[in-house]
Amino acid sequence: MSSPVPCPESGTAAFHRGLPGAAGAGELWCEGTRVAALAERFGTPLYVYSGRAIDERAERLRRAFGADATICYAVKANSNLTLLRRLAGHGLGFDVVSGGELQRLAIAGLATDHVVFAGVAKEPWEIAAAVAADILFFNVESEHELALLAAAGATAGRRLRVALRLNPDVEAGTHAYITTGKKQNKFGIGLGRAADVVRRIVAEPWLELAGYHVHLGSQLRSVAPYVDAFERVAAFADADPAHREGVTHYDLGGGFGISYGEGDELDVAAVAEALLPRLSARGWRPVLEPGRYLVGDAGVLVTRVLGTKGQSQPGSPAAAGGGGTEFVLVDAAMNDLVRPALYQAEHPIAPVAAPRAERRTVDVVGPVCETGDFLARGRQLPATVAGDLLAVFAAGAYGASMASNYNSRRRPAEVLVDGDRARLVRRRETFEQLTANEVEIDES
Ligand code: LLP
Repeated sequence: MSSPVPCPESGTAAFHRGLPGAAGAGELWCEGTRVAALAERFGTPLYVYSGRAIDERAERLRRAFGADATICYAVKANSNLTLLRRLAGHGLGFDVVSGGELQRLAIAGLATDHVVFAGVAKEPWEIAAAVAADILFFNVESEHELALLAAAGATAGRRLRVALRLNPDVEAGTHAYITTGKKQNKFGIGLGRAADVVRRIVAEPWLELAGYHVHLGSQLRSVAPYVDAFERVAAFADADPAHREGVTHYDLGGGFGISYGEGDELDVAAVAEALLPRLSARGWRPVLEPGRYLVGDAGVLVTRVLGTKGQSQPGSPAAAGGGGTEFVLVDAAMNDLVRPALYQAEHPIAPVAAPRAERRTVDVVGPVCETGDFLARGRQLPATVAGDLLAVFAAGAYGASMASNYNSRRRPAEVLVDGDRARLVRRRETFEQLTANEVEIDES
């Protein structure tokens, strides 16, 4: 069998181009399924996930970190129930940040003994739900929460395990909106305050200090920040026996970067190689919270071109391409994938059909009434015409999970592919669902 034609825009071989001379030659495939056929069957905009790509990433992390590591998938990256079940099938636990995410695990019928619960401000009902679910530990990063947790422990009649989230003031070298481990960020407890907080935890009969947690930010591509952060936490633990008494876990957070079509993804084996010996020297077990790394490359957003349009000023040469901006108008928008608008994120884009040879510099924009509604700006792409399909790559993480109904748009359908089999794992929303909570409201 000849090897598949790679698709350079994709961070996984699960998306590839059809072999020359065969059916679907040059077209985009997801595993053994033509992406164009999925668009026909399920409509657009459409999220398409590769099961194999998710499996591969889960296995790669397990190989790197070993059987002893607790790998908690960050549910926020993509909270689709079918994907959660798939990841649980690899022995993964979950990192949740809300009672809603915990509820999803219950609805998916998943165990909660390998769940960590993070967040700067948890509500009492969320804490109660997590206590009832007997999660692995709470990641605590705001002092006011200690009293809430202690009260919940007293009610339950057992000590709650907490990991203290430290803010090590480490530069993660990523976008400002997704940096979390600097002292100006709201996350974690600064090392200057941490001794006091540890004292409070140790003194509290209903709490026990199970570990330390650090999360530096997202889309990290180098090992150094992980090591830096660990060394700072280790120095803190070494400063006083009370800082390490009973500590069993070190949660190194998530933030494992993917390529987004440019540069290298984070070398997860190198992170493991650097951290595991340091952890085992202290008898600390690793916990990690990857989100994007597991599902980001596994998903594409498929969108249809509705038309093209040129914009130029009076006196400048012809419209389309003639000195002004050329727009490709598509049926996906910032409500479906907000990352370009919110973080200036650059997702690779390519036609689903075999790309035309002619290339043009275009802005790919959606129908939403916002200038910020773009999927790409000033991008060199093969020429497209109305009716063409485009794939927006690396959209499996923080795509569907951040989608909204802005402009009263229905959130997209989601499909999971395994080989030549495609399953709808979330239906496209209906207009009835959009307005269900507003109809029959008594205005009197
Ligand atoms: N752990 C904690 C405590 C987190 O806050 C996050 C992400 C993760 C783990 C997972 O990070 P990951 O491995 O996926 O990078 N919406 C943004 C990313 C925000 C991430 C927030 N926290 C984006 O689209 O890039």
